[in-house]
Amino acid sequence: MMPRHGVLSLLLLAVVLVVCVESGKNWVLLVSGAEGYINYNIQSCPCHAYHTMRNNSIPPENIVHMSYDDVAHDPENPIQGNLVTLPGGPNLYPGCEMDYRKKEVTPEVFLKVLTGDKEGVKKLIGRDGKVIDSGPDDRLFVYMMDHGGPGVFFFPGTNVKLHNTDLINALKQMHREKRYKEMVIYMEACHSGSMFDGLLPKNINIYTTTSANATEVAFMCCWDKFRKAYVGGIYDNAWLYDSDKANLHKETLYQQYVVTKKACEKPAYKSHPQQYGDLNMNKDVLAQFQAKSEKYIPSVCPNTQKTDGHIQGPEFTFAGIDLNNPALDMVQIATTARRLIESRDLSSQKREELKAELRHMMLVKEKAESLTKDLVKAAMPNSRGLTETDILTGKERVDNSECYKAALNFFSTRCPGINMRRYPFARRNLQAFINLCNHQSQIDVMNAILEVTEKYSICRAQ
Ligand SMILES: *[C@@H]1O[C@H](CO)[C@@H](O)[C@H](O)[C@H]1NC(C)=O
Ligand SMILES: *[C@@H]1O[C@H](CO)[C@@H](O)[C@H](O)[C@H]1NC(C)=O
Repeated sequence: MMPRHGVLSLLLLAVVLVVCVESGKNWVLLVSGAEGYINYNIQSCPCHAYHTMRNNSIPPENIVHMSYDDVAHDPENPIQGNLVTLPGGPNLYPGCEMDYRKKEVTPEVFLKVLTGDKEGVKKLIGRDGKVIDSGPDDRLFVYMMDHGGPGVFFFPGTNVKLHNTDLINALKQMHREKRYKEMVIYMEACHSGSMFDGLLPKNINIYTTTSANATEVAFMCCWDKFRKAYVGGIYDNAWLYDSDKANLHKETLYQQYVVTKKACEKPAYKSHPQQYGDLNMNKDVLAQFQAKSEKYIPSVCPNTQKTDGHIQGPEFTFAGIDLNNPALDMVQIATTARRLIESRDLSSQKREELKAELRHMMLVKEKAESLTKDLVKAAMPNSRGLTETDILTGKERVDNSECYKAALNFFSTRCPGINMRRYPFARRNLQAFINLCNHQSQIDVMNAILEVTEKYSICRAQ
């Protein structure tokens, strides 16, 4: 029989081991990728996440939040200083701290913050800023929301975007530098899968879920008649309200992924949330990433509202767009259409303005599509066995990131009238840019852009 003090010291050792295992810190990085009242939910959902993390005892000094922060006080907001993710939901703006606002919210600053590069941040913005100052025992939770686009995640400001290759390189660098034990990334954006698909290694302890696969758009919810805006996202509201009521010590990452998948299946199949990276992490419980383990106490369903993100009115569409759950990148068109439909109280002048706005957006959409077709035609004179249809319909991955970046920048300069930040629906055509860059030389692609943008007067429209 083991002497008594032997058993005791074994017990002590076990306790010490447990404490060591749990000694890592939790870090959270929240990113909102768009500005303007029209992009209401892209700022309200990260604010919701901020409160969820704070409620789960993640200390404020370990949360970094990047948001343009112009929605809560926009003159169009009927309740100043108010943000919700459901009509009638609690005000999420008070106490929603932000560390980078307005022009500081860029992909460059984001990458420095993520990789814990304090000096780099200071160089970029001329002041000290909070970074993810994590070490080898720490766990990270990253939540990002934007309209997205094939291989890109946009940030506020004209044509500023994070490319998938730059995000993946930063993650690999963090793994080499042992800046985390495990990392979870939730991304809501159209084509969000394209930021990770075929790129994120499975063996660097990073697990991600995305609201859409690489080749499809994602969808919004929760039209608020009073606020005249879509205030939630299907994927976002699904996980946020789930985290608010779940026992985070029991529910696993996989179970939460299924919650988002189910939400996106209703009412008619919308998008297909995906998982990428290290799927062994599926069995990890949510508390490891969304709560500070010692202090966290499971809440008793604080929110009893119907929270699956489908506030349904009668079914209706405009130009084929579902106005209950429109695609994220259709937000301007869907919002304007709904404002017009519900505009009985507006002056006839305001109604005319809305109609003109809608007509202009439909025109931009149509021109962006025909321009893309002409662009492909112009870039394909010596195509090796590929047809224009192959390029226009192919769903290829970004193989030539340099060319894609250059083409996107050049196009933005040459065609400010099709402003992809302002009109995210135009980003759908970017898949053709990716395909072209994979098969044609960069020079051919650039020359085609030069030639075709010259012909389209919409390019010079404001
Ligand atoms: C955070 O906790 C407070 C107090 O329990 C609650 O009123 C609030 O709804 C919670 N917020 C979120 C986003 O869960
Ligand atoms: C991706 O989405 C498209 C469109 O919704 C769908 O047709 C396709 O099957 C999906 N692919 C995967 C891998 O989920």
